Amino acid sequence: MHRRIFVPGALAAASLMLAIPASAASYTPGAPGIGDPYYPYYGNGGYDVSHYDLRLRYQPETDELQGTATVLARTTQDLSSFDLDFLLDVSEVRVNGAKAAFTHTGEHEFVVTPKRPLAKGTPITVVVRYSGVPSTKSAYGFTTWHRTPDGAVAADEPEAAWWWFPSNDHPSDKATYDVSVAVPDGTQAISNGTLQSTSSQRGWTRYSWRQNKPQATYLATLALGRFDITTSTSDGGIPVINAYSTDLGDNDDAARASVERTGEIVDWLSDWFGPYPFSTAGGYVPNTTTGYALETASRVYYSPKQFAKGSNVSVVVHELAHQWYGDDVSVKDWKDIWLNEGFATYAQWLWSEHEGEGTTRELADYVYASHPADDPFWTVAPGDPGADHQFDDAVYDRGAAAIQALRDEVGDTAFFAILKGWPKEHAYGNASVADFERYAEEVSGKPLAGLFDTWLFQPSKPAASAARSLAKGGDGAGTSVTRPKSWQSIEAAHGGHGH
Ligand code: ARG
Ligand code: ZN
Repeated sequence: MHRRIFVPGALAAASLMLAIPASAASYTPGAPGIGDPYYPYYGNGGYDVSHYDLRLRYQPETDELQGTATVLARTTQDLSSFDLDFLLDVSEVRVNGAKAAFTHTGEHEFVVTPKRPLAKGTPITVVVRYSGVPSTKSAYGFTTWHRTPDGAVAADEPEAAWWWFPSNDHPSDKATYDVSVAVPDGTQAISNGTLQSTSSQRGWTRYSWRQNKPQATYLATLALGRFDITTSTSDGGIPVINAYSTDLGDNDDAARASVERTGEIVDWLSDWFGPYPFSTAGGYVPNTTTGYALETASRVYYSPKQFAKGSNVSVVVHELAHQWYGDDVSVKDWKDIWLNEGFATYAQWLWSEHEGEGTTRELADYVYASHPADDPFWTVAPGDPGADHQFDDAVYDRGAAAIQALRDEVGDTAFFAILKGWPKEHAYGNASVADFERYAEEVSGKPLAGLFDTWLFQPSKPAASAARSLAKGGDGAGTSVTRPKSWQSIEAAHGGHGH
């Protein structure tokens, strides 16, 4: 219970829940952004969400989405109003049972003004009734609601939630989810976590999913369409739920030959990263036309394009590695993206070595040698790439080479202790690149500031001496290093970075 009492004297703690004059100077609007240096309006100030309950209905023929979001949160300041991030049309908002005023402003701000201001530390229940056609809504000139011939998909980074539920849209405010969606019989709804129930009534089937571990808003996903759903259990005991669009055509077999390896790969990754952090694992392949995949928590999104050249296990390894690096431990701010992409790429390198298609050393050497010093590739600093370069190749490939450089510096014992210890250290939390540097120094007992600066923050190619094995054979600029067999599939996994 917080006791920030603005009236001198004796207000009992319990009475803080009661009406308080709106004129009180300490009651101010929550900030329209949570303070992310790349995205000033992403997320919001003044409250902290613990749970989203989304009860929705979707009509694939018209792309109409309607329903009710119930958001459980707690205020973190004396609040006169607060923002959610949301684009759809709202008919009613209630805060702790009472009707509240509301309005859309800016690109994606949705301002809620409760009847009575809210004291710091107050639990709030915000009920938002809404409807709309998500594909017709845009912010900053784009939409990330992806329509398919038989439905739609919400899966994008860093923004996806605005088109389907009102939220505090920033990775630093994690919450659990209940997502329940009614769709016409014959259509399925796929989301994160466990399928709690399905029920049919008058031509509509309701799918109710539960994510019982805290997840970031961009990792909440929804797919509506005709799917074939498969279930299995890994040797390590992890339940796996996968879903394939019934319309994948020529890509169907390759998609299954890749995504059905999920259980095996989750178990293999657990050996490196520690226990799998979610109650279920799996992926879905809808009939989308975008090229990328996304590590949506416990239910990875894969574009069918990932399987257009045949099976692609490397992308499955990448997205499943994110379940630890990205989903369990999430970025504090979007500038910390290397903690996601560098490690997911390094996991692909470990898999490549395991498969005999090139060692992590060979892959690091290839990255180093294949980009001459004047290649703009080296101007992007993975440790703080800038909003426009968040998903550049440098974040992935130079980012993974940086991890190899760390391994060279601290030795395998400390390195693998760091790799496994990090998700445990920040389980279901958030962390920054600076936090990781401190942790790696602590575990290895070595000062690492120079190495981190060279590999993650300098906008230039590290000297040959910093790229160990190549130091033997020159500066790497003109050296021809053979391309590891795994290279193409590793690169394909992060194809199609744009919206
Ligand atoms: N985290 C994703 C991956 O590495 C990147 C998605 C970027 N693409 C996008 N359209 N936002 O697989
Ligand atoms: Zn990734």
